[in-house]
Amino acid sequence: MPCLTILRYPDPRLHTVAKPVQGVDARIRQLCDDMLETMYANDGVGLAATQVDVHERVIVMDTSEGRKQPVVLINPELVATSDEMATAEEGCLSVPQIYESVQRHARVTVRAQARNGETFELECEGLTAVCVQHEMDHLRGKVFVEYLSAFKRDRIKTKMLKKTREEQAPRRA
Ligand code: NI
Repeated sequence: MPCLTILRYPDPRLHTVAKPVQGVDARIRQLCDDMLETMYANDGVGLAATQVDVHERVIVMDTSEGRKQPVVLINPELVATSDEMATAEEGCLSVPQIYESVQRHARVTVRAQARNGETFELECEGLTAVCVQHEMDHLRGKVFVEYLSAFKRDRIKTKMLKKTREEQAPRRA
């Protein structure tokens, strides 16, 4: 399967709210596989279906060092969040080459369905906790730059639009 196209900020489709997955069938399993392939090919640690213009509650991630531990989260819900907060630098495949600090819960417990449809819970901390919260934001139409000041966000928006324009400009011989 070829890699899926990742929407780039400020594409308005990134603000679509994803719908729950009704049943984990062959189509959803294929989506998970394609999303994982796309995430690995782009060196990402996480990817939400929203980013590939599919507006259903599906997330894939791999925060392991060896990058051989794919995790699929279908219909993820946070069932616990720590009072303790933590700030970490984040990036996003939809906002390439931009890294900014965001404050989030230091630990979260997420309940979701796996690729086989079974429900499981995952206790997350560190990078995994950041990733789960970042990707779940995507599913409700929120991009991490929305946590930044309007000034910073506008600067990023301009940069991304310029980058997209440059890439789309016809090449000269
Ligand atoms: Ni992202």
